[in-house]
Amino acid sequence: MKGPPPVLKCTDWGLPRNEGFRMERYIDLRSDTVTRPTAEMREAMAVADVGDDVYGDDPTVNRLEELAACGMGKEAALFVPSGTMGNQLCIMTHTQPGNEIIAGAASHIVRYEAGAAAKLSGVAYALVDNPDHFIYDSDIRRLARPGGNVHYPKTTLLCLENALSDGNVVPQADLLAAADTAHELGIKVHLDGARIFNAALALGIPARGIAACADSVMFCVSKGLCSPVGSLICGTAEFVKRARYNRKILGGGMRQAGVLAACGIIALEKMTGRLAVDHENARLLGEQLSRIQGISVKREGMRINMVFWRTEIPGFDSDTFVNFMRERHIKISGGPEYRFVTHNDVFQEDVDTVISALRDYIVSLGST
Ligand SMILES: Cc1ncc(COP(=O)(O)O)c(C=O)c1O
Repeated sequence: MKGPPPVLKCTDWGLPRNEGFRMERYIDLRSDTVTRPTAEMREAMAVADVGDDVYGDDPTVNRLEELAACGMGKEAALFVPSGTMGNQLCIMTHTQPGNEIIAGAASHIVRYEAGAAAKLSGVAYALVDNPDHFIYDSDIRRLARPGGNVHYPKTTLLCLENALSDGNVVPQADLLAAADTAHELGIKVHLDGARIFNAALALGIPARGIAACADSVMFCVSKGLCSPVGSLICGTAEFVKRARYNRKILGGGMRQAGVLAACGIIALEKMTGRLAVDHENARLLGEQLSRIQGISVKREGMRINMVFWRTEIPGFDSDTFVNFMRERHIKISGGPEYRFVTHNDVFQEDVDTVISALRDYIVSLGST
């Protein structure tokens, strides 16, 4: 056949046409990972200057990495596909197989990364399980094993987290005391700062102030900052060079990733400044929830954009409640501890809509 090849359309692949397609609006409180890229991000993606990032040739990725390193007060940064990969790369780069890492029992690294540190880096975990989920300097002194004893693995890394997965924020003094003790004992410190900008806002200090305690820090430009994909790890130039090699091992080299990095740049330059709106909406939501009889809100988990609550109301059933809310175009995760998360796609007026739907559900219980 002569002439240019035919242009394939979605329909040629049996896919529905997407012209004019709009998603129905839901108030989605399940997580801030559900945020969609802003209009400005979508435009930036379209015009992003790109190159092959595995060759170090993508100017937009390079710019994002410079911004990230500068923002965290570190020498260098590396763009990675996810927060999980970022954490795992840092663990892999700081440790040797057979080492032990100290981490919070409820931390993301331990609880929600599918045991990756054991599988990918071959490390053992020494878990800290305090009721407040903080890690104190006394925990490090109790658990650290410096090596040299034939029975023990060598402790080489402390993994801290701020903000915590439970919505709380670790005070700077506690974070510093734990990190200083680790350093004193020759242990490196990694900070999972997936929501470091939320923590910084809650503490009233810049993110780089929190990151200063750590040898490496991971933060996400997805989640509350609205990038569709991506996280950054930051540390010394030498550390990042080794992490780049490990990223290749894990298959995380992303070629023309500038289309994604363009969103990351907007996330850092514009979206960090609006997180206070999410915190305020979470506060309003928490306040209104706590006014409902039979509902108890976890106060200490209300430092950022999250509200955790429980209820003793007779007949209150998690599955039925989730479905009831879904029918009212509100997406939530089930209990017994409910977590509502605010973000860029949740507006202040949505707080009233959510509370009135919840009240309707409670009223419906009385009539069954
Ligand atoms: C504290 C924390 N660390 C790490 C991650 C992992 O990020 P990702 O989902 O991009 O892998 C998350 C995700 O929610 C998180 O909350």
